Amino acid sequence: MHKDVEKILFSEERIARRVAELGGEIARDYEGEAPLMVCILKGACVFFADLIRAAGIPLSIDFMAVSSYGAGSVSSGRVKIEKEVGQDVSGRHVVLVEDIIDTGNSLCALKELFSSRGAASVKICAFLDKKARRTAPVEADYVGYEIEDAFVVGYGLDYAERYRQLPYIGVLRKEVYEK
Ligand code: IMP
Ligand code: MG
Repeated sequence: MHKDVEKILFSEERIARRVAELGGEIARDYEGEAPLMVCILKGACVFFADLIRAAGIPLSIDFMAVSSYGAGSVSSGRVKIEKEVGQDVSGRHVVLVEDIIDTGNSLCALKELFSSRGAASVKICAFLDKKARRTAPVEADYVGYEIEDAFVVGYGLDYAERYRQLPYIGVLRKEVYEK
C-alpha cells in the first residue's frame, strides 16, 4: 500500500493540527446553534470523525452518499444520491463535510438541495480543495488545505476503494491508475 504512494503531502501529525484548528473555527462560529454536521460518505468519514470531536460543541450528525466518480480517477460530472440523510433539515444550520472538492459538482448540487429543503444555513467544510479544477460555482467556507491538481489518497480518500485507511494524505503513483 505505502509503496503505491509517490510522496506524502500531509503527515498524520500535520493533519491532526489542522483538524484541531478547523474544529476550533466551527466551534466559534456555531456556538449555541447545535449545527447538523453532514458527512459525505465515504471519503469524509475519517475527517468527519476527527472534526466533530475537535469541534467539541453540541451538534448532531447525519450521513449522505453521492456518487459522481465510479471507480476511475476523473470526474464524470454526474451526481447521484446513493444514501439520504435520515431527518428533516428545515430550520437547521447545516455543515456539509467533504474530503475534497474537485470540480465542485457534488457540493454545488448538495448545497442547492439542502437550501431547497429549507435549511437555515448551509456551509461547506472540505479538508482538501483542488481549486484549479473547479467548474461548478461553489466555494468551501472551511478548508484544510488547498492542493495542486494531483490524485491523492489516504485519510479517507480512495482510489477504486483502496487506500482510505492510510493515516496520511499522499499522491498516488501514476503507474497505479494508468496501467
Ligand atoms: P467533485 O464533485 O468533482 O468536486 O468531486 C469530489 C469527489 O471526487 C470527492 O468527494 C472525492 O470522492 C473525489 N475525488 C476528487 N479528487 C480526488 C482525489 O484526488 N483523490 C480521491 N478522490 C478524489
Ligand atoms: Mg467523496
